[in-house]
Amino acid sequence: MAERKIIAVVGATGAQGGGLVRAIAEDPAGGFVARAVTRDPGSDTAKALAKLGAEVVAADVDDEASLRNAFEGVHGAYCVTFFWAHFSPEKELAEAAAMARAAKAAGVRHAIWSTLEDTRKWVPLSDDRMPTLMGKYKVPHFDAKGEANRLFTDAGVPTTFLLTSFYWDNLIHFGMGPKKGPDGTLAFTLPMGEAKLAGIAAKDIGRCAYGIFKGGAQHIGRTVGISGDQPTGAQMAAAMTRVLGREVRYHAITPEAYRGLGFPGAEDLGNMFQFYRDFERDFCAARDPAVARALNPALQDFGQWVAANKGRIPLD
Ligand SMILES: NC(=O)c1ccc[n+]([C@@H]2O[C@H](COP(=O)([O-])OP(=O)(O)OC[C@H]3O[C@@H](n4cnc5c(N)ncnc54)[C@H](OP(=O)(O)O)[C@@H]3O)[C@@H](O)[C@H]2O)c1
Repeated sequence: MAERKIIAVVGATGAQGGGLVRAIAEDPAGGFVARAVTRDPGSDTAKALAKLGAEVVAADVDDEASLRNAFEGVHGAYCVTFFWAHFSPEKELAEAAAMARAAKAAGVRHAIWSTLEDTRKWVPLSDDRMPTLMGKYKVPHFDAKGEANRLFTDAGVPTTFLLTSFYWDNLIHFGMGPKKGPDGTLAFTLPMGEAKLAGIAAKDIGRCAYGIFKGGAQHIGRTVGISGDQPTGAQMAAAMTRVLGREVRYHAITPEAYRGLGFPGAEDLGNMFQFYRDFERDFCAARDPAVARALNPALQDFGQWVAANKGRIPLD
């Protein structure tokens, strides 16, 4: 058998990277093997990845030498940053720069940079429809990722820019699921009016990334946008009602009200949802589900995701 190409996966114990490691493991004849990058190879999650056949290596995106070591000898590298671990766009930029330099130094043939739009191209800082945050961002966790695209290009790394979308898993893990109101009815809150939300099952991001690595050179230098479905808030509530067997109403609030909810990151997310709403056409058009399905035939739509996660979506 020909030697398998190694894909170094940053964030392998998390949502995006975990999906990619599993996609590689589920296709043993595909010609690839995963190198799972983690800060702690001794964790239960890392050990589970090793059982799937992944090589597990220790590295930290804040330690460039460790990244160079993790990328040594690989064909591909999946690069992602972890905004919600530190809430710092500057740190994301520094981490992306370190990954790009490490990929170049190691001679990586194909990198995927998990990115999002720099929303300041649509909403300049002078536009006061939404507040400027942290001095120079509109949606900090988007803007820094978009700004970081050029770091990969400038470093000369053969890169695919993967535009991800809203994880439906946020309904389970991020407190965004339906909540019981004073009258006992479940309500699903979004500050998006009637606009469509391009979303995806988090594990499908990794599966699409695997499709990109398999497709190879044709994707290098390109931006690939993915989503699993693009329902409105009302359609998401209707799908949950149908699949979960409990009435879920859509509760549309304003982005201003969302920004004021007071939890860490509420302003950033309020601006993000306003960006989705105000630039619905651009945001959705950049993430055609047909593109994602061509990369990943098992792609779930929202109804399928709800059915697969029945029992995990909190209903209280
Ligand atoms: N939630 C959404 O809807 C959404 C949508 C699109 C994009 N995103 C973006 O997705 C990114 C996060 O990706 P994810 O959801 O896959 O992450 P995740 O599930 O939160 O965690 C990924 C893994 O990252 C590792 N990690 C954290 N800090 C690290 C560091 N300094 N060095 C090396 N590894 C580190 C951790 O592994 P170890 O502990 O094993 O090291 C963790 O298990 C964020 O930047 C977010 O903005 C999120």
